[in-house]
Amino acid sequence: KKTAPLPDDIRARKGGVPLVSLTAYTTPMAELMDPHCDFVLVGDSVGMVLHGLSSTLGVTMEMMILHGQAVRRGLRRAMMVVDMPFGSYEQSPQQAFANAARLMAETGCAAVKLEGGVAMADTIAFLVARGVPVMAHVGLTPQSINTLGGYKVQGRGAAADRLLADARAVAEAGAFAVVLEKLPAALADQVTQQVPIPTIGIGASAGCDGQILVVDDMLGLFTAFRPKFVKRYASLGHQAEAAIEEYAAEVRERSFPGPEHVFADTTPAGGAQ
Ligand code: KIV
Ligand code: NA
Repeated sequence: KKTAPLPDDIRARKGGVPLVSLTAYTTPMAELMDPHCDFVLVGDSVGMVLHGLSSTLGVTMEMMILHGQAVRRGLRRAMMVVDMPFGSYEQSPQQAFANAARLMAETGCAAVKLEGGVAMADTIAFLVARGVPVMAHVGLTPQSINTLGGYKVQGRGAAADRLLADARAVAEAGAFAVVLEKLPAALADQVTQQVPIPTIGIGASAGCDGQILVVDDMLGLFTAFRPKFVKRYASLGHQAEAAIEEYAAEVRERSFPGPEHVFADTTPAGGAQ
């Protein structure tokens, strides 16, 4: 049937119907979003969303590979991108290639994503020249939280020019798309008009060439904090909490398991159980 888009197909969607994407970390969630997303990102947000880390800095290659493999098993038609974790690519283009190749070989992802603009342009060009499609990520780059000084809006005022330069640099280096995280909407629109590759917004603008959200955020599963840019399309965390509360009460009053959940000593006629 329909096969997964390739990075070049995503690149060709510049200026067209907005690209749809979400993060995923597990097989069942990947299966749910596969029919609806153009690409799925195994984000290093996995460290905060599923592993209880307070930032993405502690995320390892092993975590990305394990979750990448799980997501891969849930996808049939959406393209898969895997984040390069902090410390796996910044040292040199060679280091970046070795780890990107490992992510591609062990997870089957079509592309990797890494954070950084001008500073990572040479690395992006090195990877692309060697067969690694790269999605870039500029603006708020959570792996640089300790030098950015917090999760604040990027590119306001005089910083706009630097952000534009970052986006242009990754496009010139050969990235097939660029994530724009947490910047003024007008600046996101300007970047979108000025760079020749699709911009994927998160806390950016509806004018971007696509959007991405952390799936646990938009489902209301991850509720530790909620950035302004997250729209909650469901409150699954509250539903889960209520279900667990009800289960606990029923166990304590011995109303669970009920007769329909327990087994008789003999196999019933028809033989199912
Ligand atoms: O790790 C992540 O989830 C991301 C997206 C929010 C872009 O990088
Ligand atoms: Na990320």
